Amino acid sequence: MHTNTANERVRIFCPATIANVSCGFDVLGVALAGVGDHMLISRSTKKGIRITKITGQDLPLDPHENVAGVAALALLDHLNSNAGFEIEIYKKIKAGSGIGSSAASSAGAVWGINYLLGSPLSPQQLIPFAMEGERLASGVAHADNVAPALLGGFTLVRSSNPLDVVCLPSPSELYATVIHPQIEIKTADSRRILKTNISLTDGIKQWGNLGALVAGLFKEDYPLIGRSLEDVIVEPVRSILIPGFDLIKKAALDAGALGCGISGSGPSVFAFSKGAEKAKEVATAIQAAYTPLDIPFELHLSKINPQGVCLEKA
Ligand code: HSE
Repeated sequence: MHTNTANERVRIFCPATIANVSCGFDVLGVALAGVGDHMLISRSTKKGIRITKITGQDLPLDPHENVAGVAALALLDHLNSNAGFEIEIYKKIKAGSGIGSSAASSAGAVWGINYLLGSPLSPQQLIPFAMEGERLASGVAHADNVAPALLGGFTLVRSSNPLDVVCLPSPSELYATVIHPQIEIKTADSRRILKTNISLTDGIKQWGNLGALVAGLFKEDYPLIGRSLEDVIVEPVRSILIPGFDLIKKAALDAGALGCGISGSGPSVFAFSKGAEKAKEVATAIQAAYTPLDIPFELHLSKINPQGVCLEKA
């Protein structure tokens, strides 16, 4: 921990994240390097939180209705702090995109405020407050987006209560290609359609894959990572909400991606590849397959972000 109480304002990058990563529903997540929001957080003489500017999205300025505000207020309450902060949010990640829009804002708010207060808490300790933002966004305080947004790389939520988050290694040549069809799927809606019970047969497949995926990350075993990117529980239910999901997956795998699945609660779909060149080929193949559908989309190509939320130069 370090002190920096002399700082009056901080400009930060808040990464997009892929939650679930196929077989790790609600427990696995990874931060992206190339996609994210920006925030400017300043100390204020007025106690409490004020959100003074949001660009890129039509979101509430009332801190009690905004995920960044709720997360920030939870942190100040915990610290019993009389401090005041103004937050500006520059959204690049669209709400309802499936790449952790609410997590980026929630994680950024608590990270920036903690920094300006002299870092009384570690990034790990900030996770529960960022989770309050997720509770506002989806009704469930899941940590699989905010944990990688705050800690970087891959993270595994071994337990939510009590919170126990494990950092996993990121293989150096792992790249993500993400397609974001421009439709909105609310996390709350895509959670509502999930079954609450699973069969033992599906459970066995899923935890076999999750264990092997974690082993693949440690061993930098790309084929093992690829074989493990399978979701027999959530993907069959949610993929019907994503127009062209099967087309995207086939194009990605045919082009040589290691694996492909729904990013978070969708509609974004991610593919992992070994190396930047392969990730580009996968992007080209997905683009060719998706263009005929006449649904506008964005494509992102990104390395894994090892750091999570970080300072930006002014
Ligand atoms: N694990 C959450 C879900 C992530 O899939 O509902 C939402 O981004």
